[in-house]
Amino acid sequence: MTDAGKRTKTPRAAMEPRDYHDVLIIGSGAAGLSVALHLPEKLRVAVLSKGPLTEGSTYYAQGGIAAVMEQGDSFDAHIADTLTAGGGLCDPDIVRFTVENAPGAIRRLIDFGVDFTREELLETDPSYHLTREGGHSHRRVIHVADATGESVENTLIARVKERKNIQLFEDYLVVDLIREKLPGGYLGRCVGAYVLDTHDGHVKLLRAKTVVLATGGASKVYLYTSNPDCATGDGIAMAWRAGCRVGNMEFSQFHPTCLYHPKAKSFLVTEAVRGEGGILTLPNGDRFMERFDARLELAPRDIVARAIDHEMKRLGIDHVYLDISHKPASFIEDHFPTIYKRCLEFGYDMTREPLPVVPAAHYTCGGVLTDRRGRTDLDGLWAVGEVAFTGLHGANRMASNSLLECLVFAEAAAQDIAATMDGRAAPPDVAPWDETFAADSDEEVVVSHNWDEMRRFMWDYVGIVRTTKRLERARHRVDLLLRETSEYYWNFRVTSDLLELRNLLQVAVLIIRSASLRKESRGLHYTLDYPEPDTSGPPQNSILVPENFPVLR
Ligand code: FAD
Ligand code: SIN
Repeated sequence: MTDAGKRTKTPRAAMEPRDYHDVLIIGSGAAGLSVALHLPEKLRVAVLSKGPLTEGSTYYAQGGIAAVMEQGDSFDAHIADTLTAGGGLCDPDIVRFTVENAPGAIRRLIDFGVDFTREELLETDPSYHLTREGGHSHRRVIHVADATGESVENTLIARVKERKNIQLFEDYLVVDLIREKLPGGYLGRCVGAYVLDTHDGHVKLLRAKTVVLATGGASKVYLYTSNPDCATGDGIAMAWRAGCRVGNMEFSQFHPTCLYHPKAKSFLVTEAVRGEGGILTLPNGDRFMERFDARLELAPRDIVARAIDHEMKRLGIDHVYLDISHKPASFIEDHFPTIYKRCLEFGYDMTREPLPVVPAAHYTCGGVLTDRRGRTDLDGLWAVGEVAFTGLHGANRMASNSLLECLVFAEAAAQDIAATMDGRAAPPDVAPWDETFAADSDEEVVVSHNWDEMRRFMWDYVGIVRTTKRLERARHRVDLLLRETSEYYWNFRVTSDLLELRNLLQVAVLIIRSASLRKESRGLHYTLDYPEPDTSGPPQNSILVPENFPVLR
């Protein structure tokens, strides 16, 4: 359900059914646009977004991008911090690969034109200001004030628009991936996608030699989220339906500090506020993080979010406070201009008073299994960005490692696609979408009701603190809603809301299944029935295998 549409639109590209692209990239955030820009210009590339091009989590990123750039910091320190935050589940080789490629990825962004904030906030100062965030032992987060994502997204879009080989398709929602039909009824490689044109309501066909999922995360599965409306897990659900494995879906990250205000729609207050000295307090002014972790407000996010949740439940309060008003007003206005202005609109002056804050769903650590080139289980399909499970984040993503993951893996995937393109056959002819027997929906209320119900029980039963009983309750409900929604999907003409709901329900099933399998507490997964990590053997990822796996390569 989207209420996006606020920013400037590009003229719409036409879809030619007989035509095909070398690379179809689904998603126009940091991941999708970076893949497009790193592909050779001789390849014909399509980039799709289901809403306006800018509408994705990337645009809203505040804090910045983690990379070793400070004297005294080291790759080993960045790696060690990432592994610690990840609670024993990060893949050490992937972490090293990401961290070592970070400074290069930042240099490429600077070359593209991103104007990161300088040390003295002066354009003439050659060194960049690095902020600090939870879990990082050094100042390591390069940023553009408190609106890093907006600057990165706009810069990447500007560069993509200069490329003649890249076509942009705005307001096209991918319904499902298409696999080649092989003799004997088998299914082969990925050769395109069915796409809902949200302007005329018809489903069209887009064929391609290779497809990249860059569809972002699934935090809209929860009632309260920092994410934009498009974060409905479409890529994860589509890849699962196409036969790909998904991993670690139980690790939903809750950001500790979103503004508490009925009209703020969980507006994020960046962790960098705590990095620059902000403290968390109770209504009586007491600081409470010292009771939970020696790193205080800069402990990893899972710990801070759980501490806030604990205090809110213990005291029966609706929010806690985040206070940086002890810093000079000019410092706050310079470092956090977007947040300062936005909070003023809601009646809070953060230079003079504490802000009411609550945790909200923020990041999907799990996703579609990929290797370090972004390859999925399905030949012809890559996944990059928040949709992917690369092994970088483990049981808890460290702040500002996710834009970094988008950039590093986009380059790796683009290189791999380019290197393998010559040997790839053109996509075969594919049957068009058949809507002959589909009728217009008779009861839209089913869709809106099921959206609300799912998001509420996911929040209540599969949120920051879980129990086995709550997970069972959630499973019963989600099974019922998925059956009801699937029936609806087969009988009626598809709409964006219906497709997103179907995807979110699929993702909810995967989250609940993974959470139920984990008989321990680790990282972002905390259950009262098993409050400690299982130390009887090495920590295990939760890998879910669809019925139609193994897919043919
Ligand atoms: P997105 O940027 O979310 O883009 C997804 C794209 O996929 C969109 O274009 C969307 O239209 C398209 N799409 C999805 N489904 C379909 C479909 N079915 N058909 C067609 N198109 C589709 N991370 C950091 O590292 N540092 C930060 O400071 C930071 N701050 C954040 C602040 C906020 C408020 C939020 C929400 C997240 C923040 N994150 C941060 C996380 C980070 O922004 C995201 O993980 C990252 O931007 C994801 O990028 P992406 O390209 O994978 O997906
Ligand atoms: C923030 O700015 O607090 C968000 C950073 C992130 O999610 O990585």
